[in-house]
This record gives sequence, C-alpha cells and structure tokens, in this order.
Amino acid sequence: MGTATTVRRLDAAEAADRVEALAEVLIDCVEGGASVGFMRPLPRARAVAFWQGVAQGVARGERALLVAEDGEGRLLGTVQLILALPDNQPHRADVAKMLVHRRARRRGLAARLLSALEAVAREEGRSVLVLDAVTGGDAARLYARHGWQRAGDVPWYALMPDGAYCSTTFFYKHL
Ligand SMILES: CC(C)(COP(=O)(O)OP(=O)(O)OC[C@H]1O[C@@H](n2cnc3c(N)ncnc32)[C@H](O)[C@@H]1OP(=O)(O)O)[C@@H](O)C(=O)NCCC(=O)NCCS
Repeated sequence: MGTATTVRRLDAAEAADRVEALAEVLIDCVEGGASVGFMRPLPRARAVAFWQGVAQGVARGERALLVAEDGEGRLLGTVQLILALPDNQPHRADVAKMLVHRRARRRGLAARLLSALEAVAREEGRSVLVLDAVTGGDAARLYARHGWQRAGDVPWYALMPDGAYCSTTFFYKHL
C-alpha cells in the first residue's frame, strides 16, 4: 500500500468508474459489523447498485462524493455530502456513508475525509451539517473529536448487520 494517501472529490464520470472499488469498501465495512444501511451478508450486486445510484446522484448535483486513495490509486475510504434537501433548507447538508476499509483504519483517514467534506460544504454554501452514527461507536467518537455537537440519541433507531437493534446519536455542526 502506497504511503501518499490523498483525499479528493470525484466528478460524476469518476464516481461511475469507481463503483466496484466503492462496493468493496462498503462490503468490508458491513462484514466488519458496521451499521451503515445494510444487513449482512451484503451481496456484491446490491452494493454495486447502491454506488451506481450514488454516481447518478453526483451527476445530478444532489451529492458530493469524496474518496481517500493510496499512492497506487487504491480506494481506502469514502464519505458523502447530501446536497439535495427541501427548499427551506438551502443552507444545510447531511453527511452520509463515512466508510474506511478495515485495513486502512486508525491512521487518521476518516479525520481527513471529514475535514475535506467540511471544506466542500463551505464551498457549496452549506453552514449547517447533520449526521447520525451508532451511539458510542467508533464514528461517534470521531465526530465528537471534530467539534460536532451531540443533539441526542434515538434508542432502537436501526439494526446492526446481524439484526440486533442499535441506538443512533444525531450530531450537528455549524460551519
Ligand atoms: C468510523 C471510521 C470511519 C473511522 O475511520 P478511521 O480512518 O479509522 O478513523 P481515524 O483514523 O480518523 O480515527 C480512528 C481512531 O484512530 C486514532 N488514530 C488516528 N490516527 C492515528 C495514528 N496515526 N496512529 C494511531 N491512532 C490513530 C484516532 O485517534 C481514533 O481513535 P479512537 O477510535 O480511540 O477514537 C471507521 O472505523 C469505519 O469505517 N467504520 C465502519 C463504518 C462506520 O461505522 N461508519 C460510520 C457511519 S456514521
């Protein structure tokens, strides 16, 4: 794995090009027990279809998609900013699908993705960001460390990939 990890925003063509690699990261996270919208086992075709939909959303300007890649261009992590919100929330965006492959964790990649995503949000004129994360999980610590405010917890909000209920914590950040 190369040492020079870069974080960048993908355009629609690049996003469509990377759906297989993005699916691989998503499957790895779900296999690792992450509650990110899918149950285990996550079939490859379903993961690929999800990222094809994301790429179409990027093409429509509804989402910004960021990736972290190693020096050889291998995809290590990703995060999204959802820009398509109701007319009365033009200043807001949601953060979604922060995913780092298990082999690339605990090196600050998620922190870099989050900083880059906040910069994209500012460029897009968004000043209120919202996200949710499993209560007390690795991601919740990440957001708290990066100045996100904890709005509250919703017990039994979602399922873990193995079917167990989990509580979700909502966070926000004013940029
Ligand atoms: C949550 C997640 C994105 C974090 O990714 P990551 O790249 O490992 O995050 P970071 O490296 O920035 O931080 C993780 C930990 O490594 C530590 N760390 C960062 N750089 C480090 C370094 N160079 N050396 C040692 N430790 C380091 C951080 O302090 C943090 O410690 P903590 O867990 O005790 O709080 C990742 O675990 C993941 O993809 N999980 C599954 C998917 C998921 O749950 N996504 C969240 C959806 S809301």
